[in-house]
Amino acid sequence: MEDRVKTGIKGLDELIGGGLPKNSSILLSGEAGTGKTIFSLQFIYSGAKDFGEAGIYVTFEEKPEELRREASQFGWDFKKYEAKKKIVILDAASLRVGVPTDESFYVKSDFDIKTLLSHLYEIAIDIDAKRIVIDSLPAFFFSHESEKMRDDVYMMGRVLAETKATSILITEIVDGQGYSRFGFEEFVTRGVITMHLVEGEKAMPRMAEYKRGIFVRKMRETNHKIKQYPFSITDKGIVVYPQGEIY
Ligand SMILES: Nc1ncnc2c1ncn2[C@@H]1O[C@H](COP(=O)(O)OP(=O)(O)O)[C@@H](O)[C@H]1O
Ligand SMILES: [Mg+2]
Repeated sequence: MEDRVKTGIKGLDELIGGGLPKNSSILLSGEAGTGKTIFSLQFIYSGAKDFGEAGIYVTFEEKPEELRREASQFGWDFKKYEAKKKIVILDAASLRVGVPTDESFYVKSDFDIKTLLSHLYEIAIDIDAKRIVIDSLPAFFFSHESEKMRDDVYMMGRVLAETKATSILITEIVDGQGYSRFGFEEFVTRGVITMHLVEGEKAMPRMAEYKRGIFVRKMRETNHKIKQYPFSITDKGIVVYPQGEIY
C-alpha cells in the first residue's frame, strides 16, 4: 500500500520521498503572504481532482467565498467538488467575528475546541476525508489563554490522527523568527515545511529583490535535503524547482 500522499505541488513530492507520510500531521509555517493558503488549497484541490480523495478545509480567517475566489485564479473549481462532497470548506471564520454565513458547513460563534473537533470528525467520517487543512492555528488560538493552547493543539493532533487523514496545520512566523507562532506546534506534527521570502542581491541601493523559497525542515520517515528550494506561484498554482538555487 502506498504510504505517501501526493501534495499535488509540482516539484515538491520528489523532494520528500513521493509525498507526505500518510496519516500524519504536517506543520506549514511562514510569514504573511508567503503562500501557505495557496499551498493548502492546492493540496485539497489536487486530492479531489487527481486522486479522488475527499478533503476538508477548515478556515478561521478567510471566508469560504474568498478562498473559492482565490482558488479560481488558478483554475481550481472548488464548487464543482463541493457539490460532489469531495471537498468541504468548514466556515469557522464568519460567525466568530459576527458576520452572517450562508455556508452549508459552519461552526457557531461561541464554539470551543471540543465542539469544533467533534464537528470536524463527523464530517471527516461522513465524506471519508483523506486530507484536512487547518488555516490557521494562530487565527483560532488568538483568543485563547496560553496555558490551554498546548493541550488543545495536542487534542487537535489526536483527533486528526483518529480520522486517518493526512493533515496540514498552518501556523505563522513573525519577523522571520523561529518556525512556529507559539513554539510548540512542531512537537505535535510529524513534519515541518516553511515558506519564505528570501532577500537577494540588491540591484540598486535600498531596492531589495526577493525570491520565494520553501524548506523541508523536518519530515519523519523521509530522507530529505536540508536546503531551501526556490518556488513560484504560477497561473496553475505553486511550482517548486528541485534543481534550482536561491541566489
Ligand atoms: N494569481 C497569483 N499569481 C501569482 N501570485 C499570486 C497570485 N495570487 C496571489 N499571489 C501571491 O500569493 C500571496 C498570498 O498567498 P497566501 O497563500 O494567501 O499567503 P499566506 O496564506 O501565507 O498569507 C500574495 O501576497 C501574492 O504574492
Ligand atoms: Mg493565509
